[in-house]
Amino acid sequence: MEVVILSGSKQIGKLAADAIEELVRRKPDAVLGLATGSSPLPTYDELAARHERDGLDFSRTQGFALDEYVGLPAGHPESYREVIRREFTNRVNIAPENVHGPDGTATDIPAACRAYEESIAAAGGIDLQLLGVGTDGHIGFNEPGSSFASRTRIKSLIEQTRRDNARFFSSLAEVPHHVLTQGLGTIMEARHVILVATGAQKAQAVRDFVEGPVAAICPASVLQFHPHATVLLDEAAASALKLADFYRHTYDNKPAWQGL
Ligand code: F6R
Repeated sequence: MEVVILSGSKQIGKLAADAIEELVRRKPDAVLGLATGSSPLPTYDELAARHERDGLDFSRTQGFALDEYVGLPAGHPESYREVIRREFTNRVNIAPENVHGPDGTATDIPAACRAYEESIAAAGGIDLQLLGVGTDGHIGFNEPGSSFASRTRIKSLIEQTRRDNARFFSSLAEVPHHVLTQGLGTIMEARHVILVATGAQKAQAVRDFVEGPVAAICPASVLQFHPHATVLLDEAAASALKLADFYRHTYDNKPAWQGL
């Protein structure tokens, strides 16, 4: 796991966008795993700017959402399918038919989850998965206790997560209780994962998953087993890390050819 501590979310967005740009130029039909929430927004802004300014071309890429609420009607502005369209894919030239998400409106939920796993496999697997982390250590919506072997399935949200996400809705009561999410086993198959965390409210979760034991109580800790996991933090999110100085030293002295 590589931990990179940067001065703010703009710098984080640029570095994550560098990795995505390098991938898309090297592999124009790359498969991107897309997170929602606040953490990836500076990365999406930066990619949209590079598309506009430099013609960065996404026409052959595919996007797969990490997760989706269950029970929001199709087209609801806070459904993750809509959020991903609005915040990213409509701002670059990814073909709408190349943007996929688990179907939170399905009547047969297990079949929809199986179909989602099959569509990821049919695309050749995810090359680069963007992630945020919840204040309880969740990735995707794999709440504490999620199996490290889990695949896309329905999960219940913990109240803390519903409260954290209530800022996107007009009241807490509107935040769904259920979601479909890629499993931890699904996420672990992405070839590269980049997790972004900013702000002091993430400091404890970051310390737990980066430096704590690997345990289902902190789902993101499974990334300690990932062969290519990059963690991009601002100073506040990094503030509880024991080895922060070591991570800074390592990154500052990293060979330029290595990239993320
Ligand atoms: C979003 C997702 C969640 C968020 C996490 C952090 O698709 O899967 O795991 O990444 O809840 O959310 P923010 O970035 O809003 O703090």
